[in-house]
Amino acid sequence: MGISASPPLSAEIERILLTADQLQERVAALGAEITEVYQGRELLLVGVLQGSLVFMSDLMRQLPGPVRIDCVAARSYGVSAVSSGQLEILKDLDTAVGGLDVLIIEDIVDSGRTLSTLREALSARQPASLRICSLLDKPARREVTVPLDFVGFTIPDEFVVGYGLDYAGLYRNLPFVGILSRWVYESSQD
Ligand code: IMP
Ligand code: MG
Repeated sequence: MGISASPPLSAEIERILLTADQLQERVAALGAEITEVYQGRELLLVGVLQGSLVFMSDLMRQLPGPVRIDCVAARSYGVSAVSSGQLEILKDLDTAVGGLDVLIIEDIVDSGRTLSTLREALSARQPASLRICSLLDKPARREVTVPLDFVGFTIPDEFVVGYGLDYAGLYRNLPFVGILSRWVYESSQD
């Protein structure tokens, strides 16, 4: 056992769910899985901004084959749990994806609305193949079925931050994934 390199926990993080080492190990394994599936074919990674940035930057370095990247920013409509599933594309791709092997990179799948709608939108552009890779899957809150081809970790129904995931724009820079203390978001909703 070495000395932990983790930074000290702030009170805002209730506990660490996934350490930096666990994340690196799993991302390397995902890289191997993806490499096996594509067999050296050129791949376009489509990162969903901003949450997937940290994950995508680590994952792409585990892919030895030819890789391009692009990013999309999207927001699913409706704050309520019964939203219509409309997706607003805030920043579209620069790449025409017709005929390409496309792999969507997401940080977390929660209700599934963002990804299922984004998947449909990209599918209409007729890529050669379209798959989804999400670092985290929170199946307890799924409202819409969405096929996940590669998943890093299945997690319990907790609000997590770090390694790209945010609360109100903060905590993306944490090197681990941690459960956010409830008082952080309960106090701000008063
Ligand atoms: P969905 O459309 O409900 O699947 O929304 C997924 C999006 O909600 C993710 O891309 C995140 O931006 C956000 N999200 C869901 N759960 C969490 C969480 O536990 N921490 C941080 N962001 C989350
Ligand atoms: Mg996101």
